[in-house]
Amino acid sequence: MEVIRIEGGHPITGEVTVEGAKNSALKLMAATILAPGVSTLTNVPNIADVHVMGKVLKELGAKIEVVDEHTLVIDTSAVDRWETPYHLVAQMRASTAVLGPLIGRFGKATVAMPGGCNIGARKIDMHLLGLQSLGVQFDMSHGDICATTPAGLTGTNVTLDFASVGATENLMMAAVRAKGVTTIDNAAREPEIVDLANMLNEMGAKVHGAGSPVIEVEGVDALYPVEHRVVGDRIEAGTFIAMAGICGGPVTVKGFDPIHLGLVLKKYELMGLDIERGDMQCTVSRTSPLRPVDIQTLPFPGFPTDMQAQTMCALALAQGSCIVTENVFENRFMFASELSRMGADIVIEGHHAIVHGVERFSGAQVKAPDLRGGAALVMAGLVADGQTTVSDIYHIDRGYEHFVEKLLALGAHVERADIPDLD
Ligand code: EPZ
Repeated sequence: MEVIRIEGGHPITGEVTVEGAKNSALKLMAATILAPGVSTLTNVPNIADVHVMGKVLKELGAKIEVVDEHTLVIDTSAVDRWETPYHLVAQMRASTAVLGPLIGRFGKATVAMPGGCNIGARKIDMHLLGLQSLGVQFDMSHGDICATTPAGLTGTNVTLDFASVGATENLMMAAVRAKGVTTIDNAAREPEIVDLANMLNEMGAKVHGAGSPVIEVEGVDALYPVEHRVVGDRIEAGTFIAMAGICGGPVTVKGFDPIHLGLVLKKYELMGLDIERGDMQCTVSRTSPLRPVDIQTLPFPGFPTDMQAQTMCALALAQGSCIVTENVFENRFMFASELSRMGADIVIEGHHAIVHGVERFSGAQVKAPDLRGGAALVMAGLVADGQTTVSDIYHIDRGYEHFVEKLLALGAHVERADIPDLD
């Protein structure tokens, strides 16, 4: 079984450059379906989830060439199937991002209904409701979502119950081929949404307002292949910033726009980090004790849920108590129970976690509950007394490229090791 082993107590300093954003790259790959021909995506992270999305596209008939580690040349001219099999959706729920593009190009799609995952039910009812108002009809059978558009796609007004990232993306990618204008109200405003809208417009779409709560899409008859660079990964950046914050740094994190972590950086400064913002980078250090700060996760520009575990890790070492409230997913505190094995003092009350800061963590064997929780456990290991062994690290490999190598380059005492199964 592969684990990440960390020997705590060693400072991390130097520079790290983050990759393109996982949560943009996957949707940009799906969006190439809308533009028959050869599109090139650069700054694509070399991570497990991208490999799975590649399999999904090939299953549909696309050809993909990995030119160098971070450039994908995707030819979707021969895409002639619109069924995404369960085993790929089960492996990665983001495969459902092909729903909008397949409907936009073919007027039909069959995508396996995604199950839940560790952090919550992860339903897609808002995706389906929104698509239905564009004229899509769904037949659910045998665990598959079969979409058809007997009367084609017609633009309309859609208001989302919640600013869902996935629903906003699927709606945008179908609406670009609808007749007339679609407005998506209460749309997600994440930087990855803006990145997708930018690429769709480069393809010939007419998407306005991405990044604001109201996105307007004027349907067009055709979209054309493009070359597009994936936006820098603000969550990978935030993960290294949090690590520098608890270890002390200084660490310079490059390859992302600090504006995309606006509230996170403000909260981290309140917690006692010194953050120097630069052009596509920031430098982080800390000389004073960590201070407790209350955190509420919300859709962008609110505090990102994908930074909740990493931030809780830092708050668990603060001088005092605070409350972390998870408003986006219903079950995203598993990390806290693993961190308690390392000595953290956290009480979970529903979607609130009351965090009482402790002096230090002690190294232990822990299990990654999900992608961000796994990274946060490695982060805890960096400052824990003794050795920490994190298992189930496949979660981490889904979204962090060369995670161990990057930490080694910063001076951490960390290694990937293959050990006999613990249980
Ligand atoms: C995206 O998931 C990200 N994943 C998540 O990142 C991220 O945490 C999330 O957005 C919020 O920012 C990718 O982009 C691949 P949502 P998504 O639709 O689109 C509920 C990571 O660690 N909901 O905004 O699934 C849903 O259950 C991952 O990189 C419905 O109920 O997020 C959740 O509770 C984790 N019905 C909440 O809304 C729907 O139709 C937010 O979901 C859609 C969503």
